[in-house]
Amino acid sequence: MTGITGQLGHDLVQTAKRAPMAEKLEVLALDRAALDVRNARDVRSVLETARPDVVIHAGAYTKVDLAEGEGRLDAYAVNAFGTQHLAQVCGSLGSTLVYVSTDYVFDGLKQTPYTEFDMVNPINEYGRSKWAGEQFVRHLAPRHCIVRTSWVYGANTAPGNGNFVKTMLRLARRQMGERADGCAEVAVVADQIGCPTWSRDLAHGIWNLVLSNSSELATFGTYHMAGSGSCSWHEFAEAIFLEAGFADRVTVRPIPASEYPRPAKRPAYSVLEPLALRTQGLPILRDWREALSEYMDLIVE
Ligand SMILES: NC(=O)c1ccc[n+]([C@@H]2O[C@H](COP(=O)([O-])OP(=O)(O)OC[C@H]3O[C@@H](n4cnc5c(N)ncnc54)[C@H](OP(=O)(O)O)[C@@H]3O)[C@@H](O)[C@H]2O)c1
Repeated sequence: MTGITGQLGHDLVQTAKRAPMAEKLEVLALDRAALDVRNARDVRSVLETARPDVVIHAGAYTKVDLAEGEGRLDAYAVNAFGTQHLAQVCGSLGSTLVYVSTDYVFDGLKQTPYTEFDMVNPINEYGRSKWAGEQFVRHLAPRHCIVRTSWVYGANTAPGNGNFVKTMLRLARRQMGERADGCAEVAVVADQIGCPTWSRDLAHGIWNLVLSNSSELATFGTYHMAGSGSCSWHEFAEAIFLEAGFADRVTVRPIPASEYPRPAKRPAYSVLEPLALRTQGLPILRDWREALSEYMDLIVE
């Protein structure tokens, strides 16, 4: 497993113990120091030594805005070529490769949920680098699952690399502490729609997929896996403050994305429909509000 210090990787390690058939799982959890996927030689030597049945590749370059500028080469080195290195070795060893990809492979021009059969058209460098990674996986590792997810939040975030939930809480708390009336106002984009996904739910979903694929009747391919339902960032923020018990003190002002310009363009609509999970009879992730509520109970003291 790669990316274990990230939001998803951390939860994949934590949930492995409760995965179906956990007693049969032997997990090799590799942080970047143990395996930097940019290094093809290291990837080959680590995998040839371990000879894993399954590699779950949760590691990625995820700084979407930096990828438009100084981080561009690194985004491709990690997300495209790093994934190519893993796919090449998985292909030659016959290992299954699970690659975690993103809703940002879509341009967001559709107004109904995207299925695995919709055409991609990434509109930023991060999305293009992740799509390149997907292509390497498809061409080099016949036994693969590509799991596209979106708007991920989890408990484990590296310093300076938060998530939307933590950012909203930090902004509101700072203002509430500074203002005499103890209130806060945040402006949040209301014209981008997606599916918030708790990394722990995603981790459970990935284990279900991996273990359902351990039989001879394995179903490889591309899967959409994100929290059920959808919302705008504005609605997501309102739900966060409601769960935190701040709803009466925090005003969430809706703004268009054009009022919050960022280096990377984001799709206006990137709701993922889990068509492949449904047709395979595999569980889909629960409603995003229910997941958020449980997550907030864990992180808000
Ligand atoms: N976050 C989202 O909203 C979102 C949305 C859609 C899809 N995804 C995808 O979901 C997956 C998990 O995302 P996340 O939010 O858990 O990411 P994250 O918290 O940013 O973690 C990324 C992980 O990748 C590791 N990594 C970076 N460069 C690496 C390299 N060269 N070799 C090996 N590992 C490396 C990082 O290690 P260090 O800590 O040492 O840097 C970290 O453990 C990624 O594939 C991402 O593209 C995320």
